[in-house]
Amino acid sequence: MASNGVLLLFTFIHLSIGHAAFVQLEVRAENVGKYGQQSLLECVYIHSQEAEGGKLIWVNWKKEGVEEALLSFHKGSTTAESGYSFAEPSWNTTNRNVSLLITSTSVKDQGEYTCDVMTDSGAGIKNIRLTVTAKYNKPAIKFDPQTSTLMCDSDSGYPEGQLRWFDEFGTEWTKSSQMEAKKTESGLFNLSSKLTLMDGSTFSSYTCKVFNVSGGKEEEATYTVQEPEKTGRAQGNKVDGTTKVVAPLVVIGSLIIGLLLLMLLLYKRRSQLVRRFSIRPLIMGDHQPVDPCDSHVEQGEDQSCPDSLA
Ligand SMILES: *[C@@H]1O[C@H](CO)[C@@H](O)[C@H](O)[C@H]1NC(C)=O
Ligand SMILES: *[C@@H]1O[C@H](CO)[C@@H](O)[C@H](O)[C@H]1NC(C)=O
Ligand SMILES: *[C@@H]1O[C@H](CO)[C@@H](O)[C@H](O)[C@H]1NC(C)=O
Ligand SMILES: *[C@@H]1O[C@H](CO)[C@@H](O)[C@H](O)[C@H]1NC(C)=O
Repeated sequence: MASNGVLLLFTFIHLSIGHAAFVQLEVRAENVGKYGQQSLLECVYIHSQEAEGGKLIWVNWKKEGVEEALLSFHKGSTTAESGYSFAEPSWNTTNRNVSLLITSTSVKDQGEYTCDVMTDSGAGIKNIRLTVTAKYNKPAIKFDPQTSTLMCDSDSGYPEGQLRWFDEFGTEWTKSSQMEAKKTESGLFNLSSKLTLMDGSTFSSYTCKVFNVSGGKEEEATYTVQEPEKTGRAQGNKVDGTTKVVAPLVVIGSLIIGLLLLMLLLYKRRSQLVRRFSIRPLIMGDHQPVDPCDSHVEQGEDQSCPDSLA
């Protein structure tokens, strides 16, 4: 019994020394994960030469503020929360690459992690930080003619970014705008910004750019103000609306007038024919003195006309 106790004590001392000397963890302390994509938190342990061949006892991956281990290997079996696994596809105890793979990175995955490894020849523990980013969508700009306001929306980014306005000459108008950042259920941000156009200070185009938290431009969109200016455009729309109603009326009106004219013409012709038959001699008599004159005019003998009349 006594020898057993000595053996235990000896093992304990051996492990304590090993802790410091025989196992080293190689990690990258700072990592950036992309939202919705895989994230790799690297952790590889190496033995010193004296400890070569040491057997793995456990691996524990924990996250700050989370009680349960996300991934652990202990007493020959691996347990993992869903969405977490060893990065090596068919990891076993002979593989010293115990890196953690996060299948689909979300905003809540951001934080401090610890990779904790114990072997029979030593132990090691290291901190790893994961920062999550999500690129903002291309902005969409809408114009509200009622309030003469441009509205720019850019969604689903992380961390909180900024929307900025520029005119076609590159002058910034952000100070005249109001921005709002809404946090979505998934922890991402939806940005929206309003820029009210003042009368007489309207440029022909406005660009809305989305910048990430570190000031890098991600996306942009340009809105071209319709010519003539906004108020004119609203009136133009009204005219268009009126035209739509008036146009058919004009067409129908012209048709009716045309029809009436045609009827009048036909009526006149008919009455002329009737008159020709009934009072033809009288008309002929009326016209006779003029007719030769006309024929002479056509021939260019202006003078002969009054002569013949006389
Ligand atoms: C550990 O394994 C992962 C997944 O296979 C790989 O991407 C990474 O490069 C490995 N790290 C080292 C140091 O071998
Ligand atoms: C561990 O994996 C390696 C390579 O994937 C394989 O060659 C080896 O046989 C495996 N060992 C055990 C104990 O499963
Ligand atoms: C944020 O934007 C996304 C994509 O446009 C949309 O589906 C979601 O409803 C928005 N959430 C909020 C809180 O505005
Ligand atoms: C911000 O954008 C710049 C340029 O696109 C990029 O290099 C940087 O990594 C981004 N930073 C973040 C926190 O997304």
